[in-house]
Formats: sequence, C-alpha cells, structure tokens
Amino acid sequence: MNDDGVDDVMPAAMVRPERVIVRDGDAFVDAAAAWGANAVALVLAQRERCSIALSGGHTPRAIYAHLADRYVNVPWTLLDIYFGDERRVPPESPLSNFRMAWESLLRRVPIEPSRVHRMMGEMDDAIGAAREYERVLPHSLDVVLLGVGADGHTASLFPGAPQLHERERRVVPATSPAPPAERLTITPPVIAAAHHVGVIAAGASKAHVVARALEGSFDPYALPVQFALRGSWILDGGAASLLRVVPA
Ligand code: 6PG
Repeated sequence: MNDDGVDDVMPAAMVRPERVIVRDGDAFVDAAAAWGANAVALVLAQRERCSIALSGGHTPRAIYAHLADRYVNVPWTLLDIYFGDERRVPPESPLSNFRMAWESLLRRVPIEPSRVHRMMGEMDDAIGAAREYERVLPHSLDVVLLGVGADGHTASLFPGAPQLHERERRVVPATSPAPPAERLTITPPVIAAAHHVGVIAAGASKAHVVARALEGSFDPYALPVQFALRGSWILDGGAASLLRVVPA
C-alpha cells in the first residue's frame, strides 16, 4: 500500500496493454525477439546496463534461440540476466528454466557468466533460496518477460495463491498445481516495478485465458497474468483467436 492506502501493485482496473502484437508462426517468434531487443535498446539509451528477467516454460525457447541466431547486435555484454521463476530442481535438470535459457540463448551469446543470476532451485531451503535471490534482484528490473499458463498463471503466481497478496517480499517459494510442484517466483511488486513488461503467448490453448485477461473483468487474483496488463502482449494467431478486437 502507498501512503494513501492504495495498493499500487494493482494495475488500474481500466488499464489495457500498451501494445498487443499478433503474428503467426515464425513472425511471432521474431516479434517477441524484436520486442525484447527493442526494450533493451530503450533502456540502454538511458542507462549503462540493462537488467532483464527471463520467462521459463516452453514458449520462450524458440524466441531465445532466435535472439541468439539473429540478434547479434544486441549489446549482450551490457545485460544482467535474471529469472521470473524457477522450478526447485538442479540447474542441470531438463525441468530447469535456467537450463532452457542457457541452452537456447545464454551459452550462445557473449554474456559474462557472472552476469547470469539464476534462482538456486537446488537449495533444500526454499525460503533461504528466495531470500538469497532477493539480495541480488534489482529493486526495479528494466525488462521482464512473462509467459502465461492456460489457467492464467504467470511466473509461478497461480490463481488463488497466497503469493498473489505478497506486497513486501519480492521472491517467495510457491507451489504449482501442475508438476513440477515446488517453485520459486517473483511476486506482484516485482512486475509492478519493472520498466518494460512483455507477455508472450502462443497456441489456441491460451486463447481463452488471453481473451479473459485482455477483454474480461479485472481480477488478477483469479487471473494472475493481469498483474502484467500494462505490458506489451505478443501473441500468435491461436492465442489471439478469441479476442473480440484483434489489433491490425
Ligand atoms: C514456468 C514458467 C511459466 C510459463 C507458463 C507458460 O516455470 O513454467 O515460468 O510461468 O511461462 O506456464 O508456459 P508455456 O510457455 O510452456 O506454455
């Protein structure tokens, strides 16, 4: 709550995304990559370095690989890499968001390993791992890339979860209804404080939740991705297929 008692983490109910980009197939992957590269460029026009939190899941893999393949002009050495969430598995696990980003992007671009800040999913002490990540996480990330689950979750903020009401801690343990259950996640204040927020969604399986999020009533406790409503949403045709108003 701010001094006026207003929950300033909650996007204004009337806010709608700054931009909704709909592209199909490879054009979706390039549009998402271009959004990320552009957000980084906007930050570096004002600052010497850029902090970016990557999304996990499957959708980003092709986007990260495309960035590594085609966006060689991104000043990778000026980036500090973070993660929006992580499964509580070792970094070498096939389930690790870090491993997915490492294989598809981070090992293929000139980023100092010391500039890649992964969540310590392997730690038995989940609260300790969350506190450790809070210690290195910037108070205001420059760029945050988020995915969305078919249930409306984003990062590892799930519908109805107590973590959605967190306003002090910036990283907390969480439990996913779908495996892998044990997670670490950023909280709504981290999304609210980010300068550039991008949401990516692909496939008809996301169409219902995207339409609810962008055109339905505002209830981020039921639809946590609505905490990112003010961001840019990059969708493919399938994910945008139930929108009443499809951007040109
Ligand atoms: C994770 C992600 C999660 C993901 C959504 C969408 O750890 O799985 O952070 O929030 O972005 O579940 O995942 P897909 O891209 O696989 O559909």
